[in-house]
Amino acid sequence: MPSASPALPARILVVGGGGRENALGWALARCPGVEQVWVAPGNGGTLELSGCSQLAIAESDHAALLNACREHRIELVVVGPEAPLAAGLADRLRAEGFPVFGPGADGAQLEASKQWAKALMQEAGVPTAGYWPASSEAEALAALEAQNKPLVVKADGLAAGKGVTVAETVDEAREAIREIFAGRFGGEASLVLEERTFGPEVSVFALSDGQRLVLLPPAQDHKRIGEGDTGPNTGGMGAYAPAPLLDAAGLEQVRHLVLEPTLNALRARGIDYRGVIYAGLMLTESGPSVIEFNCRFGDPECETLMPLLGPELAAVLLACAEGRLDQAPALTINPGSSACVIAAAQGYPGEIRKGDAINSQLEPSDTLQLFHAGTRRDEGGTCLTNGGRVLAVVAQADNFDTAFERAYAGLEQVSFEGITFRRDIGHQVRSR
Ligand code: AMP
Ligand code: GLY
Repeated sequence: MPSASPALPARILVVGGGGRENALGWALARCPGVEQVWVAPGNGGTLELSGCSQLAIAESDHAALLNACREHRIELVVVGPEAPLAAGLADRLRAEGFPVFGPGADGAQLEASKQWAKALMQEAGVPTAGYWPASSEAEALAALEAQNKPLVVKADGLAAGKGVTVAETVDEAREAIREIFAGRFGGEASLVLEERTFGPEVSVFALSDGQRLVLLPPAQDHKRIGEGDTGPNTGGMGAYAPAPLLDAAGLEQVRHLVLEPTLNALRARGIDYRGVIYAGLMLTESGPSVIEFNCRFGDPECETLMPLLGPELAAVLLACAEGRLDQAPALTINPGSSACVIAAAQGYPGEIRKGDAINSQLEPSDTLQLFHAGTRRDEGGTCLTNGGRVLAVVAQADNFDTAFERAYAGLEQVSFEGITFRRDIGHQVRSR
């Protein structure tokens, strides 16, 4: 497709305020040809990232984001979180002629509706656990009684990672169904009951231009708050990449079994999906099975992956946004290992402490990064904790032992009251 726009975006807007968006801003600002990256709303660490500016605009304020695109003559918008995508931000900006990396509201249903995603997977023949959709409590309870085994219960809409119960007993599944229909997740409740599957989990991210895919190295997240993978689920307490669980052949299998059929099914529905397809996979005895799709980069997987990606990233994301990946340079991937440890606030993932001063002596280097997540600056410029996941410390090396040693040494350079982290991130790939 001939295009009048440049192959390299000089001015980029990243939408979102978490660690993921800090990492995206950092990675894009270091691409040659990129002059400036604005992050809206960003966080307490945005201005420390060289080449990044901050705009005090909420991710939900589509009109103000559109004005910012006009004012700063933005050549590429990268939308980080799912909520603005599901609310149609990419559609709005595209309609005004701005190239956006991130699907429209139609494609974002991949994450925003579990029923829709399961139906699409079934239509596409993508391996995933058997399921029963239900739109009323009676329907859900009847399906559970008919199966008479503990099923996984998933609220249908966006639930910020809190809508899934992996029930150990039928009673627990029944209770989870009742909670969903008692309005815990707001709006018109519906859900999916799912067969439980078993195996290690791995995340695969594919950059799509609507027709073609570029796969990133697989990453492994650590969702539980406690060491030994215990305690409640969180947004993610750390990650590493590339996850050896999925070697090059395994990743190719995921491309053929999962990602290509999904993209084809999206196209069959008339959806021009330009953004990330995030496949959360379980590697079962009978092969990979999709646990969930998301329409965005994972967090903290994004912080973990960005330092491994080459300087072509900005050109590749722009090519995705413009539907011309075939004309983009190949994305080089650093062959090293990347390790990420999250420093969370006391109480996370429950009620958290906020407003504590953050002290940091960490000196970032080519192989060590500090990405802020839940932080803000007060009027005097002091950086304060302001969310559940506060900081991500990320390090690279030619092996995981050294990468994690560097990340944990970096973590020792930061402190705040109540700092909470897992010491065993990467236990699957560390020898000590
Ligand atoms: P989600 O909020 O969709 O990321 O799901 C949270 C977690 O629930 C996943 O990371 C899995 O560990 C677990 N889970 C979801 N679906 C299933 C399933 N069908 N079988 C077993 N575990 C599941
Ligand atoms: N790290 C999991 C997620 O972003 O959903």
